[in-house]
Amino acid sequence: MFRIAPSLLSADFARLGEEVRNVIAAGADWIHFDVMDNHYVPNLTIGPLVCEAIRPHTRAEIDVHLMVKPVDRIIPDFAKAGANLITFHPEASEHIDRSLGLIRESGCKAGLVFNPATPLHYLEHVLDKLDMVLLMSVNPGFGGQKFIPETLTKLRAARARLDAYEEKTGRRILLEIDGGVKVDNIAEIARAGADTFVAGSAVFGAASASDPNRYDSVIAALRAELAKVAPK
Ligand code: DX5
Ligand code: ZN
Repeated sequence: MFRIAPSLLSADFARLGEEVRNVIAAGADWIHFDVMDNHYVPNLTIGPLVCEAIRPHTRAEIDVHLMVKPVDRIIPDFAKAGANLITFHPEASEHIDRSLGLIRESGCKAGLVFNPATPLHYLEHVLDKLDMVLLMSVNPGFGGQKFIPETLTKLRAARARLDAYEEKTGRRILLEIDGGVKVDNIAEIARAGADTFVAGSAVFGAASASDPNRYDSVIAALRAELAKVAPK
């Protein structure tokens, strides 16, 4: 009932296929794929070609987090490259409803991403079109930043909204958190209502020079913390 999605942003880009295989073999559920364009966010990362290249390395779902503006042009490319979920920031799309529709028409699950200061009101008229809500607990653009504590308040509010929606419709929308998730705060984040956890530096930073492929222990530690929390 809890999903762990290691972010490739902190992986070794020179050995990406191997990193994907190792982290899934170590017990991770999804691959979180951070796409940055040096325009919507001040950094530049990976695109559909890299998504296509890692696709044969795993059957795990690839969770594409678009930090690009505009978003629509690139959506079908990621769908063709093997993405399973595609999320984008509402500020980056002129037509949020259309972008969500485009993602689903391309055969992927769709989600909206909320920056730390972005209010949740963007949810109001599009819940039927969402499969996931992603709350940023750092400002987007870089791995290895510190978790912003105010996100816990926002998580509780999002949880309440999604629970009310589920009660009414019977449909569950996932609630993902991204940024600064570590072994020592994941339980508190889960208690506030998240069910899906992105962890970049916490997972990929755990490999030691002597054993660069060793992710089992950090993923087990994250799971052990989650086991202390009653499911929402
Ligand atoms: C930030 C990215 C995150 C980032 C998380 O813009 O969306 O996915 O890689 O990295 P950590 O877990 O190191 O905060
Ligand atoms: Zn991300």
